[in-house]
Amino acid sequence: MKAIVVDKTGGPEALQFKDSPKPKAEAGQILVKNHAIGVNYIDTYHRKGIYPMPTPFIPGAEGAGEVVEVGPDVTDFKVGDRVAYTGSKSYAEFTPVPVLSAGKIPDNVSYSDASALLLQGLTAWTMVRDGYPVKKGDYVLVHAAAGGVGLLLCQMANLLGATVIGTVSNDEKAKLAKQNGAHHIINYSHEDTVARVQELTNGQGCHAVLDGVGASTFETSLKSVRRLGTLISFGNASGVVPPISIAILGEKSIKLMRPRLYAYIATKEEKDKWWGELFQLLADKKLNIQIYKTYKLEDAKTAHTDIESRKTVGKLLLEL
Ligand SMILES: NC(=O)c1ccc[n+]([C@@H]2O[C@H](COP(=O)([O-])OP(=O)(O)OC[C@H]3O[C@@H](n4cnc5c(N)ncnc54)[C@H](OP(=O)(O)O)[C@@H]3O)[C@@H](O)[C@H]2O)c1
Repeated sequence: MKAIVVDKTGGPEALQFKDSPKPKAEAGQILVKNHAIGVNYIDTYHRKGIYPMPTPFIPGAEGAGEVVEVGPDVTDFKVGDRVAYTGSKSYAEFTPVPVLSAGKIPDNVSYSDASALLLQGLTAWTMVRDGYPVKKGDYVLVHAAAGGVGLLLCQMANLLGATVIGTVSNDEKAKLAKQNGAHHIINYSHEDTVARVQELTNGQGCHAVLDGVGASTFETSLKSVRRLGTLISFGNASGVVPPISIAILGEKSIKLMRPRLYAYIATKEEKDKWWGELFQLLADKKLNIQIYKTYKLEDAKTAHTDIESRKTVGKLLLEL
C-alpha cells in the first residue's frame, strides 16, 4: 500500500511517501481503508520527536473510512461498515485499528466531516464538560481561537452559556472565531492580552483559560485566570511549557490541568459516552465543522508546513 513513513525524525521532509506492507486485521482489530485522514498538531510532535516514537513509523492519529477486514474475534463490526477512529498509523491507505478506538459513523455524516471532528471535537468537549465544566455566566479564554481545536472550543463554550474571549494573530482569524461563537477577540499581534482580559472581566480574570499554544502563552494564561479559576494547558504548538514550581498556583488558588484525550476514552463505556455526546451535538446541528484544506496524502509535508506556519484555520485533512 501507499503510506507516509518517518525513518528519521525531523522537519516536514521527514514525511516520505512510500510503498509499505499492507497490514492485516489482527485479533481485536479491524482494517480500515482510509477515505479521510485528520491532520493534528500531535502528528508534528511525533514527526519531530517531541513525543518519541520508535522508527520507522507511519504517523497519523485519526481517520475515517470503510472496514475491509475484521480480526478473528471481532463481533461489533463487519466488512463495509463506515467508521472513524482515533489512534495511530492513519497516514496510509489502510490502517489496522483496535475496536476500542473505532466507532460507526451515521449515514448522513461524510468521512471528511467525521475525520475533521473526531479527535479535536473529543478534545474540546471533554475539556469543557470535565476539565472545567463550563457554565452559564462564566468567562472562558480560548487561545488560538481560530485553530482546529480552538474553533470547536469557542462553539462549545458559547453553547454552554459562557462569554468566550478568543486570542488570534490576525484579522481573518478574528472574523472566523467570532462567527464560531467567540464574543470578544483579542488580536495579540497588536493588543495586550492580559490587559484586555482584565478590561472585559471587570478586573476579575477568567473562570477558565484553555491554552493549546503552550510555552509562549503560559505566563499570559496564568495572569488571565481569576482567583479560584482553572488553567488547562493542553498542547505545545509554540513549544513545551517549561517546568514550573507548583507554588505559583497558590497566589490565586488556581487549578492547573494537563489533559490528554486518550485518558478520557480508555474504556468502551467512556468512549461510547463521549463519542455519543459529540455526534449528538452534530446531529442537533450545534456544531459547524470548518475544513481549511484537503491535501493529497503524498503532500502531507505541505500540510505540516502549513499548520506549523500558523496560517491555517480549522481542520486540515489528507486524502488518497
Ligand atoms: N491534549 C490533547 O489530548 C490534545 C488533543 C488535540 C490537540 N491538542 C493540542 O491542541 C493544540 C491545537 O491543535 P490544532 O491541531 O487544533 O492546531 P491549531 O490550533 O489549528 O494550530 C495551532 C495554532 O496555534 C497558534 N500558535 C501560536 N503560537 C504558535 C507557534 N509558535 N507555532 C505554531 N502555532 C502557534 C496559531 O494560532 P494564532 O496564529 O491565532 O495564534 C496556530 O494556528 C495543539 O497544541 C495540540 O497539540 C491536544
